[in-house]
Amino acid sequence: MTTIDTRPLRTLVHTAGSPEGEWWRDAVIYQVYPRSFADASGDGIGDLPGVTARLDHLAELGVDAVWLSPFYRSPQADAGYDVADYRDVDPLFGTLADFDEMLERAHRLGLRVIVDLVPNHTSDEHVWFQAALAAGAGSPERARYLFREGRGVDGTEPPNNWQSIFGGPAWTRTTDPDGTPGEWYLHLFDSRQPDLDWEHPEVRSEFEDVLRFWLDRGVDGFRIDVAHGMVKAPGLPDWDGHVSMIDGSDDVEPTDTVSGSGNQGPMFDQEGVHDIYRAWNRVLAEYPGDRALVAEAWVEPLSRLSRYVRSDEMHQAFNFAFLATHWHAPALRTVVEASYRASDAVGAPTTWVLSNHDVVRHASRLGLAEPGSRPNGIGRGDEQPDEALGLQRARCASLLMLGLPGSAYLYQGEELGLPDHTSLDDDLRQDPAFFRTGGAERGRDGCRVPLPWSATEDGFGFSPSGVTWLPQPEEWASYALDAQRGVPGSTYETYRAALQLRRESGLGSGGLEWLRGLGDDVIAFVNRDVLVVANLGTGPVPLPAGAEILLASIDPAFADDGSVLVPSDATIWARYTD
Ligand code: BGC
Repeated sequence: MTTIDTRPLRTLVHTAGSPEGEWWRDAVIYQVYPRSFADASGDGIGDLPGVTARLDHLAELGVDAVWLSPFYRSPQADAGYDVADYRDVDPLFGTLADFDEMLERAHRLGLRVIVDLVPNHTSDEHVWFQAALAAGAGSPERARYLFREGRGVDGTEPPNNWQSIFGGPAWTRTTDPDGTPGEWYLHLFDSRQPDLDWEHPEVRSEFEDVLRFWLDRGVDGFRIDVAHGMVKAPGLPDWDGHVSMIDGSDDVEPTDTVSGSGNQGPMFDQEGVHDIYRAWNRVLAEYPGDRALVAEAWVEPLSRLSRYVRSDEMHQAFNFAFLATHWHAPALRTVVEASYRASDAVGAPTTWVLSNHDVVRHASRLGLAEPGSRPNGIGRGDEQPDEALGLQRARCASLLMLGLPGSAYLYQGEELGLPDHTSLDDDLRQDPAFFRTGGAERGRDGCRVPLPWSATEDGFGFSPSGVTWLPQPEEWASYALDAQRGVPGSTYETYRAALQLRRESGLGSGGLEWLRGLGDDVIAFVNRDVLVVANLGTGPVPLPAGAEILLASIDPAFADDGSVLVPSDATIWARYTD
């Protein structure tokens, strides 16, 4: 084959680093949502022994680390993001001994483990909140939360006009022991998730202690929930903007660095949060082995997000601007380039993600008429995604993401190409967002359905009893792991091959040079010696001459002269063969 010199068509965006850097700089981290990953007890809800039993799958897939969503003691008002005891495992998920066993097994398999920390709010069943309710107005117990007098006659109006991210007012009024209406307390999420007051020194020391509790057990890091929300503007001023963590505003076209998914207002991204992360960075530094903090911060623009990963703060921050960008090559190129500009400025890696437990899975999002739009859940009567197109685009997007330098997060099931359950009965829904919006938002249950492991077993092998806490669509048999394992070209085998090549070729710590000249609808770049070409246009485009295919998201096409074509909605990884 003839080799062409493509160097004049290249533009350097990000310079390669060392493959020997800290592990989190280039790690692929797999999110386990414990209630839906694997059930060992037979109650239909996933648990820690279930995770342990399936860790081999993650080792075979080839990820570097696992992040577990909360498994702590909790009344499950928000699926565990309402923590009643930060130092214990909820009986639903097992015991501390089960956790230790899972951690040990993961480490033996070479997998690091990150746990979720939920510091913005506790459960209403946390001892602190119960004590605060019992102690009454003005008490030291109430000072750990944000209790305030109401406004208006007899305090019948909430203290300010803030809305909960799940819908409805962000304040709930308490009832005093004598039955009369009392103070209000703030909850940015559900009324069963009261916000802590991070100005209180006891709150700060308690969470440093919780960090140490899990670091002492051997965890490799923490994903910090609502990392941009803990400190509120002084005086809790009114705000008339729209608060939404999950869908952003779809009508905002991506511009330089804004996808519309960032939270704004006096409850988010206040300067004071950074003091907390500097203190936590010092706590982690007391421990050996590069422990990591990852920010779940819906903050834009990206230059603002990168402040969370300055060298003395956190280590990673999920790049939600990338997740939220529409299926549009110029917009994606813009967000990729802006991401490197912002994170390179502070010496941090970018942290790519396409799906998680809060958003419609990318296999469904990308099958909508406006691919990439972000409804908060899809249900009966809503526009249904085109499943085949969604899967094809999801595979294209995943290979694009995994070719990019930086760290990447995978959400359980995406390695199977799993879509959302998009026709779940509303009366089975559990997400508080569904109830607090009166059903206007379907909520996040559709992306939380238990995984299909086996095509032929009841409940697709999720639980020994065949029971699943949410029903799985019948068509999921074709997505089951055992239907894809060993099948060349299946989504699972494509992910495995991608992760192996990514590791062998050092793509995570690599660099990015745009390759121009393939058309506006094509995202093409060179990372080390791998050429990545993602074609988002409607027709096939030729792969540059001299490049040999390493991996393709779908079968490539061929021109009459036998040269390779990258089909529409496909990504090809290739290498020059000179
Ligand atoms: C979590 C959500 C949760 C919310 C409140 C989010 O960041 O990812 O699942 O409902 O925080 O804790």
